Amino acid sequence: MTSSPGDPATPAEPGKLALPVVDEALATRLRSRLAVVEDALHRHTASRAPYVTEAARHLLDAGGKRFRPLLVLLAAETGPRPEADEVVTAACIVEITHLGSLYHDDVMDEAALRRGADSANSRFDNLVAILTGDFLFAKSSELTATLGPEAVRIQAETFTRLVEGQILETVEPGPDDDPLAHHLEVVAGKTGSLIATSARYGAMFAGAPAEVVEALTAYGELVGTAFQLSDDILDIASESEESGKTPGTDLREGVPTLPVLYARASTDPADARLRELLAADLTDDALHTEALDLLRKHPAMDEARSFVVARAREAKRRLEALPHGPVRDALEAFADGVATRTA
Ligand code: IPE
Ligand code: IPE
Ligand code: MG
Ligand code: MG
Repeated sequence: MTSSPGDPATPAEPGKLALPVVDEALATRLRSRLAVVEDALHRHTASRAPYVTEAARHLLDAGGKRFRPLLVLLAAETGPRPEADEVVTAACIVEITHLGSLYHDDVMDEAALRRGADSANSRFDNLVAILTGDFLFAKSSELTATLGPEAVRIQAETFTRLVEGQILETVEPGPDDDPLAHHLEVVAGKTGSLIATSARYGAMFAGAPAEVVEALTAYGELVGTAFQLSDDILDIASESEESGKTPGTDLREGVPTLPVLYARASTDPADARLRELLAADLTDDALHTEALDLLRKHPAMDEARSFVVARAREAKRRLEALPHGPVRDALEAFADGVATRTA
């Protein structure tokens, strides 16, 4: 399966922002800055080996919401220098880091679809997907080095957390560990960390005051966690036309997500079959379909949605350090949107 222009699974339609921005002047500014970032992303994913360039641009060109670079640009609006070159570089760094993590994630998750296109592991193979992910991480490091030692430190810490999150996801919590707390730590690491850094970089390189940088970092961490939890709900609830991914991938791979944790904790006898399925190997198509159907109808889905709404509310509270205006409004609307997203 390949993507085509206008396909809803390729959300990087020109002019469409992944963040709800009501203020027209701000939206126009962000769109034009995002076009600059897009151009730079294209340049920064070039290799002297054409084959590597092709592999690296495969998912870049397939689409994606560009949510992280947009958050960098929006956070930069809180400082006196939103147009600084460093802001554009930081936006490229976070998207290229994210992109590299998608190449690796699809190998881990044995995913066939990404951004409405074949995943790199399907289109090429695992080896190419892993090495292309490494190439992209190396590129983002090269770029980070141009921003100075503090950026290098932040990037290294972020990357450590992201990779630790991905690794911890494959490890069952210990007998004394709370499964929910373990899960939230995984999610904060693998996704919250880079989204926190996106907001932080934007504010930092635009010269925003320290308390604003701090508030936006905390906001990014919470909203990033909510974003991932919401994505996990969509993995169960949505179809691939909306998400550009194969539904039920987490279930098939046995990756526990919030609705699964809630369903597992149920003591209702009516849930016995679902609990049994959730403990089984769901690589079998019939069992996978049965589990997906039962889970979609289960109150655990709404319980998980409420949890995300509460996280989003907490994220918004972190914005109290910011002045009122279109930027804060957009950040608040994004937190709300994350909790109710359908794609
Ligand atoms: C996908 O991220 C991986 C998660 C952290 C949920 P996005 O939903 O931002 O993916 P793209 O960039 O739009 O493809
Ligand atoms: C993605 O996690 C997180 C990173 C790539 C670091 P998932 O496995 O939950 O994301 P999707 O559903 O494949 O996008
Ligand atoms: Mg995945
Ligand atoms: Mg994964």
